[in-house]
Order: sequence, then structure tokens, then C-alpha cells
Amino acid sequence: MKPQDILSGKSSLWIFGYGSLVWKPDFKYKRSRVGYIQGYKRRFWHGDNFHRGNDELPGRVVTLIEDDDASTWGVAFEVSGAQAEESLKYLNVRETVCGGYLTKMVDFYPEGEESSAVPALVYIATSDNPLYLGPASAEEIGAQIAVCQGKSGHNLEYLLRLAEFMRESCPHVEDGHLFAIEAAALSVVALLLVAQ
Ligand code: SIN
Repeated sequence: MKPQDILSGKSSLWIFGYGSLVWKPDFKYKRSRVGYIQGYKRRFWHGDNFHRGNDELPGRVVTLIEDDDASTWGVAFEVSGAQAEESLKYLNVRETVCGGYLTKMVDFYPEGEESSAVPALVYIATSDNPLYLGPASAEEIGAQIAVCQGKSGHNLEYLLRLAEFMRESCPHVEDGHLFAIEAAALSVVALLLVAQ
């Protein structure tokens, strides 16, 4: 979907982030809310040869996998007027051109106001994307993240900042996948430091 088709005459839009957008939106917005979307689980199953890896060592970043019983917590940002067009242009390059993500509309439930869900745009990488890596054990994913970096920084930063966001902003949510990978990556880093 092109930015102008997403807006199609609307003056404001909510954009839901569940990966690096939660700690680094890098676009102007009117307000933000922590909350969740339903029907998706967050998984480190997408590959990244630009932001957090390269062609030789692709990083591991998150995407959303359909699962009726799951929900994914993150942050939604409301953009309005010129901000809406500017943010969509910026995110088209960051997420779609460089990251391989496609757009989709979902319902976003702001924490504490679950009855007032709003439609939100989300970036999702599907399994037919050439960068998609798919499932692996927490140990394999953690080991990959511990050694990858790309143009936006180290893959470990991406993982640790996301885990920090979940601990600080959603302390009641037990994200087993994320925290198991964090623990695995940190033990690889500890081993690498000892070996130096
Ligand atoms: C992204 O938003 O998917 C990439 C940006 C980053 O890794 O910092």
C-alpha cells in the first residue's frame, strides 16, 4: 500500500510499533499509547540485511505471526495532518524498502481503555519475503543476534531495548519468546567476553 492510499483522505492515523518503533519512532507524532493488538504473536523470525545485519550475517528482527490466541504489546503513535504523510514516507523507506515489511490495518487496544479500540497501521514481514528466516530455538536466535550488526546498530541493541521496553512499560506481560532469546544472547556475549 502506498502512503497516499493508506491515508486516503484521512487527516489522522494510528501507527502500531512492536519492534524498534517502540523505543525509536524517529518521526513526529501527536500522542502515543501503550497497548496491544490481538490475533498475532511477536517472533524474531524475520531476517535483516540492512538495519541490524548484512548479506553475510543477516540479523534477526521481529515480525508478527497470526495466532488467534495471542496478543502483542507495543506502542501506537497518532500522527495527524502533515505528520501523517511525513511519517508514512519515512516509514516506507525504513520498514518497507530497507526492512521488507508490508502494511496492514489492525485493531489497537490502548491499555486501560480496551473498549475504545482504534484501527492502526502495522508493518508485518511475511514468510514469502526473501529475508524471512523462520523459527529456530532461542539459543540459535540469541547466538545470531549476539554477533550481527547493520547500518542502524548492533542486533543486540535491538533485542535489549525491546526487552527493556516490555519490562518497564508492560511489566504484567510475560513474553517468554523475547526473554528466552535475551537470556540466550547475553550468555553468548558473556562467553565471547571470557574468550577474549
Ligand atoms: C526497523 O524499524 O525495523 C529498523 C530500525 C532499527 O533497527 O533501528
